[in-house]
Amino acid sequence: MVYTDLAYAKLNLTLDILGKRTDGYHDLRMVMQSIDLTDELTVAVREEPGYEAETNFPYLPKGESNLAVKAAVRFFEETGLPPPGLSIGLQKRIPVCAGMGGGSSDSAAVLRILRRAYAPELPLERLEEIGSLVGSDVPYCIRGGTVLAEGRGERLTDLPALPPCWLTVCKPGCAVSTPELFSLVRVKRLRFHPQTAGLLAALEAGDLEGVARRLYNVFEDVLPRRYAQVFEIKSRLLELGAIGASMTGSGPTVFGLFRDRENAERAREALGRQFPATFLCRPAGRAV
Ligand code: C5P
Repeated sequence: MVYTDLAYAKLNLTLDILGKRTDGYHDLRMVMQSIDLTDELTVAVREEPGYEAETNFPYLPKGESNLAVKAAVRFFEETGLPPPGLSIGLQKRIPVCAGMGGGSSDSAAVLRILRRAYAPELPLERLEEIGSLVGSDVPYCIRGGTVLAEGRGERLTDLPALPPCWLTVCKPGCAVSTPELFSLVRVKRLRFHPQTAGLLAALEAGDLEGVARRLYNVFEDVLPRRYAQVFEIKSRLLELGAIGASMTGSGPTVFGLFRDRENAERAREALGRQFPATFLCRPAGRAV
């Protein structure tokens, strides 16, 4: 039997850091949005015990350090179900180390598949708890859609869907280390915070301009100089007609929000000449 599911990339409409916790993590407040840029996961039962990942990104690990495999390990440990031998196929399109939650979303898709195949009665909340053992963004990625994520990222509140729009998503070549970026943050020294409450009100009112005006990610305030391209891309997106733009997650991917397809497509073409990992996307709804 072969099971398949799609892993959706995510964007942060906002990312706020509220404080450092005693467990070394940070308390966050983020508005997350799934987009239709996806990886494709297949899970097949095999004769030999253990798990193995096959992927079109040859430099991704195949063993337990692959997040998709880690998710399978945690699923059977936590449910106590007898683990079958599994081959996990991972057709990747979401860029890695991009701030788009690609690895978390792959884990989430594996968890959704394993629940469907082995434990359909397992409550979604329990699956999200198992996800949080794999990574902070995994609980959100299991659910997808438009969501407020708080705490370490595991406290989730569903929000009204982002009004219809187009997103041009551009990943420059530089790679950002998430722990390094967190280590640069001094919460009291952050100059700006996103207007999360205002953004939630704009979503409630279906006010796309109101959402676009409030896109903000506090990591932009601490990005080292070597990531100057992030700000260049942001300016270009706004010049090209985006009604708002922001970096997503710990970057370096930047996205612009557009009312219409024409301008978004034009921005994709213009930025795509310099940055091959540039995508035209639409918001995606809940995955479960
Ligand atoms: O949970 P995950 O492994 O995805 O987190 C990667 C890194 O991001 C952590 O090791 C930590 O440095 C940082 N992090 C954090 N606070 C969070 C989430 C992640 O400090 N809420």
